[in-house]
Amino acid sequence: MPHHPDNLPPLDRELLELTFDHVANGIYLVDGEGTTIRVNRTFEEMSGFSNAELVGRNLRDMVGPDREFSGSASLLVLEKKKPVTATYSTSTGRKLLVRGIPLFHDDGSIRLIINTIWDLTVVSYSRAVDADTARDAMPEEEDLVTCSPQMQQVLDLALRVAPTDSTLLLSGESGVGKSLLARLVHRASERRKGPFLQVNCGAIPETLLEAELFGYAPGSFTGADRKGRDGRFTLADGGTLFLDEIAELPLHLQSKLLGVLQEREFFRIGGNRAEKVDVRVIAASNRNLLEMVAAGRFREDLYYRLNVVPITLPPLRRRPEDIPLLADAFVERFNRKYRSFKQLSPPLLSRLEQLPWRGNIRELENFIERLVVTSTETVLTPENCGLPTAPANGQGSLKRQLENHEAEILTRAWEKHRTTRRVATALGISQATAARKLRRHKIGEPIDNPESSRLPT
Ligand SMILES: Nc1ncnc2c1ncn2[C@@H]1O[C@H](COP(=O)(O)OP(=O)(O)OP(=O)(O)O)[C@@H](O)[C@H]1O
Ligand SMILES: [Mg+2]
Repeated sequence: MPHHPDNLPPLDRELLELTFDHVANGIYLVDGEGTTIRVNRTFEEMSGFSNAELVGRNLRDMVGPDREFSGSASLLVLEKKKPVTATYSTSTGRKLLVRGIPLFHDDGSIRLIINTIWDLTVVSYSRAVDADTARDAMPEEEDLVTCSPQMQQVLDLALRVAPTDSTLLLSGESGVGKSLLARLVHRASERRKGPFLQVNCGAIPETLLEAELFGYAPGSFTGADRKGRDGRFTLADGGTLFLDEIAELPLHLQSKLLGVLQEREFFRIGGNRAEKVDVRVIAASNRNLLEMVAAGRFREDLYYRLNVVPITLPPLRRRPEDIPLLADAFVERFNRKYRSFKQLSPPLLSRLEQLPWRGNIRELENFIERLVVTSTETVLTPENCGLPTAPANGQGSLKRQLENHEAEILTRAWEKHRTTRRVATALGISQATAARKLRRHKIGEPIDNPESSRLPT
């Protein structure tokens, strides 16, 4: 319990009530049984449900396809006995981000769950709009869930900077959730009323990228649309532009991007008038940009201009506690999609927790979808979904299986020892071999955190 400084005026009940109702976030209080104790006024406004409608009701009876909520962070907190952050949709067509934090009795049972809620709704629907219309208007978008402390930190930072216009640089391996986080930041900012646009700098041919980003003026090149065309910077005015795979941006466009970030204005191709834009830029990369700066392939000044708020998402294998949580969420999602009733057995969940998931959350998601679609069993176990309980008796060629097994052993050793020397000693190999194998299996931390990052050397 926090101590009570005597020199402060006491918070009487009226002050507490006022504060409770008027803080910027929604608050939803739940007891150790999952029953709603009370919600604040902000929550009433953001959710469209009144306190009177919710109080005394158990969340287990309020979650489901035709119920109030599509899911409940509180129920996950009750199950995991840990803080959980997740996004959900309400039956009134709203999207909310919920952080649930448990407070415990002395005997370790949960006394209270405090849910703090952010509104991520893009379009506001009045309650008159029926739930089906709202669902149709808002295409099903993937929800986020996590109980890992590192991810909570990442989300804390993202939510703190969301309302500012700072440029963000998201780094992390492929499939860790950079794109998801970029959308979340947009939705948690006032800019959610404006557009969210995305450009994958690695997927668009270099010759077209400049026009894609900045547009071209009327008559600027033969065969081109006479009237000219708006680029993404123009289209994103008032909103957020997400520049994915920023490392792939060619050097001459890096200069032009730096110009926009500094001056908030740019020239179209063939244009002679500077165009002003109000765009928040979020960039992402799964490459080590600092190394690219050192190699002269990425402009240093642009790097520092983008890196105003760096956010590094940890790979899934560094937050194994998220694996069962995510796997369950994905099974639910794909059960809904394919109208099936699959369940993951506890042994399967703990087996999944030990796998390295080099493709991170995307790989886990695809794996679960494949299971739901192809398995003929209802309760999925390591055996009936072809996952070896011992890593080496799986499928594929002997070489492939040995490779996988080696990758797993190395991953575990690296998690534990963190230096090539200690990994080498633990596994009885030379340091050079350990370093080579770790590099080959791409084991080691990602990206852009000079203190702890770097693949092992
Ligand atoms: N915390 C999470 N909870 C639920 N789903 C998640 C979470 N994080 C990521 N996902 C899902 O995992 C998939 C991969 O995420 P995302 O596309 O954001 O990764 P990425 O880092 O942008 O990858 P890439 O570098 O390949 O673009 C997406 O389908 C996303 O919805
Ligand atoms: Mg992405």
